[in-house]
Formats: sequence, C-alpha cells, structure tokens
Amino acid sequence: FNVPTAVNEPIQDYAPGSRERELLQSALAEARAVEGDIPMYIGGKAVHTDKKGKVTPPHDHQHLLAQYSIGDKTHVQQAIDAALAAKPQWENLAWEQRASIFLKIADLIAGPYRYKLNASTMLGQSKNAYQAEIDSACELIDFLRFNVNYMTEIYQQQPPVSPKGVWNRVEQRPLEGFVFALTPFNFTAIAANLPTSAALMGNVVVWKPADTQVYAANLLMEIFREAGLPDGVINLVYVDGPEAGEVIFNSPDFAGIHFTGSTAVFQNIWKTIGNNIHKYKTYPRIVGETGGKDFILVHGSADAEVSSTAILRGAFEYQGQKCSAASRVYIAKSLWPSIKELMLRDLATFKMGGTEDFGNFINAVIDERSFDKLAKYIDSAKADGSVEIIAGGNYDKSKGYFIEPTVIVADDPKYITMCEELFGPVLTVFVYEDEAFDDILTTIDSTSIYALTGAVIAQDRYAIEKASNALRNAAGNFYINDKCTGAVVGQQPFGGARGSGTNDKAGSMINLLRWVSPRTIKESF
Ligand code: NAD
Ligand code: ALA
Repeated sequence: FNVPTAVNEPIQDYAPGSRERELLQSALAEARAVEGDIPMYIGGKAVHTDKKGKVTPPHDHQHLLAQYSIGDKTHVQQAIDAALAAKPQWENLAWEQRASIFLKIADLIAGPYRYKLNASTMLGQSKNAYQAEIDSACELIDFLRFNVNYMTEIYQQQPPVSPKGVWNRVEQRPLEGFVFALTPFNFTAIAANLPTSAALMGNVVVWKPADTQVYAANLLMEIFREAGLPDGVINLVYVDGPEAGEVIFNSPDFAGIHFTGSTAVFQNIWKTIGNNIHKYKTYPRIVGETGGKDFILVHGSADAEVSSTAILRGAFEYQGQKCSAASRVYIAKSLWPSIKELMLRDLATFKMGGTEDFGNFINAVIDERSFDKLAKYIDSAKADGSVEIIAGGNYDKSKGYFIEPTVIVADDPKYITMCEELFGPVLTVFVYEDEAFDDILTTIDSTSIYALTGAVIAQDRYAIEKASNALRNAAGNFYINDKCTGAVVGQQPFGGARGSGTNDKAGSMINLLRWVSPRTIKESF
C-alpha cells in the first residue's frame, strides 16, 4: 500500500464565468429546491422519528431547506450499541484498509461532491462561496489526507530496541470502548474531522453535530457510506446535547470525547466525566478545542495597509464566527488615524446579504440566539458614553440574522467587548500610546483567559521578539505580520490552551496519538 504524500488541496476561486461557478450555482439551486427529510444513521440504518427539526438558511430563515429527525436517549443507546458491535471488525482491519477508506472520502469530496457539500455549507451555515471552499472542500480534504500521512508515521514508527533473544514492540491499540464526537456549527471540516480522526485510528464513534450544521452533516454521512465506511463505525444522532450526554457519560464503555465548541459546555462535560470517573472501564481521553478571544496587536512600526487588511479579514470573514477570529485589536496611537481611514474605506465596500449572491462578503450569523446576544452587546455599547461605534451598529432579523460589521473603539482595554467571546462581526479597538508597548503586552497577556490565536504586526524585529516572548502563553497559534485566522492543515497545526482547549492540535500527529492506547509487548525466545 503506497500512501500518497499529502499536499494542500488547491482553492477554487469561482471566478465569474468559470465552469466551477456554474457547477456551484446549480448545486445551490438544487439544494434550495429539495425539501428533504434527514434521518439519523445508527448501525448503517437510516432512522426517522416523528419529532422533527427544521433546517433553514440563517440568511433566509423562512425558507425550509429540509426537516430532520430528532432522536432521544434510546437512539443514543442504540448508537453506542451499534458502535460497540462494529468495533471488533473495524479495529482488526489492517490500518492500510482503514486509510484507503478515508482517502476515498477525500477524493469524493475533492471530486463529485465538492459543489454539493459547499452548497450545503453555504446554505446551512451561511458561508459565502470562498469561505465554504476553504472549509468544506480544502480544509476537510487536507484533514483526511494529512491525517493518513500522520497515521502512517505512527504505525511505521521505529520499534524499540530488542536485545538478543527478545522481540520488543509497541502496538497502537484503539481505545477500549467508543468515542463521542461532539461538533460545532462553524466549520464543516471540523465537524467531519472529529469523528473521522478517531475512526481512522481504529475507534468506533457516536457523532452528534450542532443542530445548525445538520444539512452538511447529513451529506458527509452519505459520503462516508459511499466510500465504504462499514456500518456502525460512525453513528450520527440528532439529539439534544444534555440529553445525549446523560447516556454517553454514564456508559461504562465511554472511552473518550473529541469536542469542539464553547468553553462553558466543555467545562461542564469535564465535570460530569469527573463525577462519573468510577463508572468507566478506562480513563477517558478528553480532547477539546473551545472558545477564543483572539487578538491582533499593531506596533508603531507596522505597515498601515497590511494592518488594516489583517484586521478586517481576521475580524469579519465568516461574520467573525471563526474560533480564530480577531475580536480585539490593540493599535499604536501614531498609526491609528491611517489605519482607521483604511478600515472605513474598505468597510464601505463590504456587501451584506444571502450566500447565493456571490458579491456578498458578509452573510448572516448562525441563529436567532446569536443574533440577539450580539444585538445586546451593540446596544449596550451605544448606550455607553465611554465607547464609540465608528462603523456598523445596525442589525435586522426580518429575513435573515444580519448584523453589520461593527467596530467599537474603547478607552479601557478591559471593556466588556475586549474580554468576552462574542462570536460575531463585532470588533473592539483599543488605541495605546506608542511608548507603552511593554504595558500593552502585559495587558494582553493578563486579559487572555482564552489563548487560541493572536497576531503581532510590526516591522521592528525587536518588537516582534518581545511580543512573541511576552505573549507565549496567550495564543496556541501565533501569527507575525498576518491575520490570526486561516490556519492550513499540514502547515499550521491548530489549537489553543488556557480557556481555549487542550491544545491537541487538530490535523496533527499529536491529535491522532490521543486516539490510541499503546501496548508494549516483550517476547522472549
Ligand atoms: P456549542 O458549545 O454551543 O456547541 C458545540 C456542540 O455541543 C454542539 O453539538 C451542541 O449541540 C453541543 N452542546 C451544547 N450544549 C451542550 C450540553 N449542555 N451538553 C452536551 N452537548 C452540548 O458551540 P457552537 O456554538 O456550535 O460553536 C461555537 C463555539 O465553538 C465558540 O465558542 C467557538 O470559539 C468554539 N470553537 C472553537 C474552535 C477551536 O478550535 N478552539 C473551533 C471551532 C469552534
Ligand atoms: N482553520 C481555521 C482557522 O484557522 C480554523 O481559521
């Protein structure tokens, strides 16, 4: 079995008049027109229930795309049972055979399913064509192909030393039990990576996606099946999170959780697992990527144009709903007038609307709950005399959950929107005195309860080194002269510490090693 060396999937640009644009547009039209009934998948069987949820585009919430079947505790238990039934055969399959299934999934997404999956992400999660392409096509294909490369390195590792008369070896066993993949709405690639990376290493999985990501999740499951993933290896359930948790975290066979989502949910799950620890056959693996409050720091030596572009792209692509999105920036006073002018110039060109119109840069936020939360922060900023809103500030949920890209300027680096995760297109700027660079480094570090991504923009090498050292623990992914979003699998392993997660670097060997439990064997002759 020849494992191909992974290379990053090229990004298609969907230029006007291109064949790719035509294909994507017809996939969108088709996805909008079909009102499906989306089932759960348990042990390879499509399971429909009477309780239904609705899938609607966040930018057009009265348009029904599909309904989906909502399960209950019984379905979660059935999914666990199906996973455990599939386990012996799956874990005894040669790793090369498992690898070939995941490479096939990557090929199906790179080829026949690319436009359909992008269209599902564009409609279900309100991503524009470019944001869908870098997520549900490129990042997802890269996860699958690079993970197969990392897996190969793990299984082909140099064996331990064996003196004469002894054969020592280390066997990379899958975990004893099943893995729970609990996935967020904001990246189709992450939703796919959490179950598939554990399954690649021989584990069986119960997968519960976010309710707002069902449209793409359903298609992913169809692709997994078409690629030959055996029944029961990944079981997809749509069950209320806490209800699913009651069954999962009480099961003696619970062997690990692969989570991405908010910090509060992860911390509660960790506590539940702690309280139940005596019930499990083995200590469960707890792997979680969680919230963020990502920053960009602009030093007085920075280039204004580079800074403005990094800030706008970092803060407003996908409506600020990337876990890596810039939501607080610190700008040296000497540069602020020119950066502000450039930001306002470019913000004026941003069009907002549905994803079907390829000219729209800003689409809707994910749901009403998120919209209401963001509107509240904007309203309280409007009412607060100590801050100024210099761009945006308007919102409208009549057709879709639209929030204008909003820039708040605060005179206190501890202002609420400088500290709390908002998860939307609301950016807060703090302008610092150029000579107070050391103080601002201390402020950033001390206010970073999360530590996912951060960036410094400067031409002064000494300032870059200083920031890099002082902010060592304030970001798991640190960018120099770039935006703080857009980590590419195989190039920048991704993950954060502090309140942002266990930093097990999605799309890396570190992550895959969490899904095996090595057994050391000594055989004497
Ligand atoms: P979320 O925490 O609301 O939901 C994540 C998953 O947990 C969903 O499937 C949800 O249904 C489920 N869930 C919610 N409450 C639950 C409970 N009480 N018990 C069990 N399950 C529960 O997160 P989200 O809104 O889907 O995603 C946004 C969050 O994810 C943000 O905080 C963002 O920073 C974070 N995120 C982090 C990364 C990263 O790499 N660090 C990447 C993407 C998203
Ligand atoms: N790859 C995504 C980013 O870094 C998660 O924004």
